[in-house]
Amino acid sequence: DWNMPDYVEEAISRIRTTIGSDQVILGLSGGVDSSVAAALIHRAIGDQLTCVFVDNGLLRANEARQVMDTFAGNLAVKVIHVDASRDFYRSLTGISDPENKRKIIGREFIEVFQRESAKINDVKWLAQGTIYPDVIESAGGKNKKAHTIKSHHNVGGLPETLHLKLLEPLRELFKDEVRELGLVLGLPREMVFRHPFPGPGLGVRILGEVKYEYAELLRHADQIFIEELQRSGWYEKTSQAFAVFLPVKSVGVMGDGRTYEYVIALRAVQTQDFMTANWAELPYSLLSKVSSRIINEIRGINRVVYDISGKPPATIEWE
Ligand code: XMP
Repeated sequence: DWNMPDYVEEAISRIRTTIGSDQVILGLSGGVDSSVAAALIHRAIGDQLTCVFVDNGLLRANEARQVMDTFAGNLAVKVIHVDASRDFYRSLTGISDPENKRKIIGREFIEVFQRESAKINDVKWLAQGTIYPDVIESAGGKNKKAHTIKSHHNVGGLPETLHLKLLEPLRELFKDEVRELGLVLGLPREMVFRHPFPGPGLGVRILGEVKYEYAELLRHADQIFIEELQRSGWYEKTSQAFAVFLPVKSVGVMGDGRTYEYVIALRAVQTQDFMTANWAELPYSLLSKVSSRIINEIRGINRVVYDISGKPPATIEWE
């Protein structure tokens, strides 16, 4: 007879006891876990919590605004919004290997986070949205890829370099419980039921070298895809869906003219655990709508393809 409202009260009093009058810092990504952790900790200790939201220039359309509106706006959480896009793009220049890109993005994040946390007086705690499945996965460490993912996702290394104690109030919860908790804490449904988004963001959805121009095209295409999925009711029937930018040009025609432009791939999958996944059998009418909108609304894209690869052997992300 576990019930959420009781759990919330308990969790809040545990956080208060643990933290006392200390200051806590949390890296807010806009994902479900860090968002719920932030909301819960804020409920417990209010202004003793400072969130840092790092804009790496690889976020989806409107993402920064949504996070700021929800946390700084509606919930009155202290959030430092750092626009570090320039730093990220600068360090990614000339880099096309996927693992290198991941490492650079991770390293850059830690640098920015460290710089920002140094500005806050007397921080003793680093809060993270680690959930129960993360705890099991890291303990096992059998799956190398999963391990790498976690080390970025939970920004491994941060607590040590910052000499901070760890506060992980969601450690005992499964994903569905985290979502329920998010709703009880008053987070918007769109945030609580959001598809997962990788730490390196659009950086691993732009194949090869990351350029600002590519990110802009991808953001726009992704926004159209997600909008149409939501409109048609397919967003919640898929576990993850997104657009991928292929830095390949192909020939097309538009009016009387020939075009020579980039390709967007659409990816939508259904999965229980993200370790294996099936591509989603989206209706042709929906794919058709998305394709025409992307090609008509975005100068620079003249071809859209749909990814029909399962995992394994393909991964969900293209990089
Ligand atoms: P793959 O591509 O390995 O992805 O099939 C499985 C799930 O993990 C997410 N993913 C990541 N998440 N940092 C993250 O935080 C990463 O580097 C990363 N790589 C993949 C991916 O979006 C999918 O949900």
